[in-house]
Amino acid sequence: MDIKGEQVTVPRHVGIIMDGNGRWAKKRLLPRNAGHRAGVQRMEELARHAQDIGVEYFTVYALSTENMSRSKEELDGLYSLIRSYFTKSVDELYKRNAGVRILGDMSPLPADIAEKLYEAEARSPKDPSFHFLFAINYGGRAEILQAVNSAALLAHRDALEGRPPQKYTDESFHGLLYTHGVPDVDLIIRTGGEERLSNFLLYQAAYAELYFTDVLFPDFDCGEFDKALLDFSGRDRRYGKIRSGE
Ligand code: FPP
Repeated sequence: MDIKGEQVTVPRHVGIIMDGNGRWAKKRLLPRNAGHRAGVQRMEELARHAQDIGVEYFTVYALSTENMSRSKEELDGLYSLIRSYFTKSVDELYKRNAGVRILGDMSPLPADIAEKLYEAEARSPKDPSFHFLFAINYGGRAEILQAVNSAALLAHRDALEGRPPQKYTDESFHGLLYTHGVPDVDLIIRTGGEERLSNFLLYQAAYAELYFTDVLFPDFDCGEFDKALLDFSGRDRRYGKIRSGE
């Protein structure tokens, strides 16, 4: 792929921590939820762009386990954006042969939203060329803990049936995570000025490149996304090995 005359390597899996919606709204004297609404529009535009340039997996941090303790007013606003997106906008994704995956614990969400999310996954194309993953009531630690608890249950079943407990490999453990079948994230972008992962894709980010920008998420347009890709292209990904020739 070519950006501004430069050849770039397109990451297979991009994750975005969409931070700064509240500050974007505050600067405009708008309620916080107006910032989240602008964020959803930006998210849709970036997903289309990512698909067009050949990204295969695109994960957005829509709601963290920690965000669940925000005010009722803000959570209700976020729920209504999620409800409306999964009612009105998913069909456009399917038309573009994009599939939906939900990462997170759906059980504390309002029942109608949990149902819509399950339905959005179930109605997804069988062999999508683009995977849009939504982390909703997601936390990396909670994800790892639920995988450990599943492993313990499987070990218990093995013991009852007289089998030795299985030894996990990276691959078989990954099979117990919300992201089973999804390649590790290559690039994580965080907007809004903070430089931390905040419990996003902790297991999957072991070798991810991190890109931080002060731009607030509703202002993070396709040009800003391309800047992140250019930066990613310049990184020397060694996965713990030394540079060739050293
Ligand atoms: C962080 O900004 C952002 C969030 C807590 C929510 C992000 C969610 C969306 C953009 C909507 C998701 C909707 C769908 C349909 C998936 P912040 O509020 O922490 O911003 P601040 O740091 O400026 O206060």
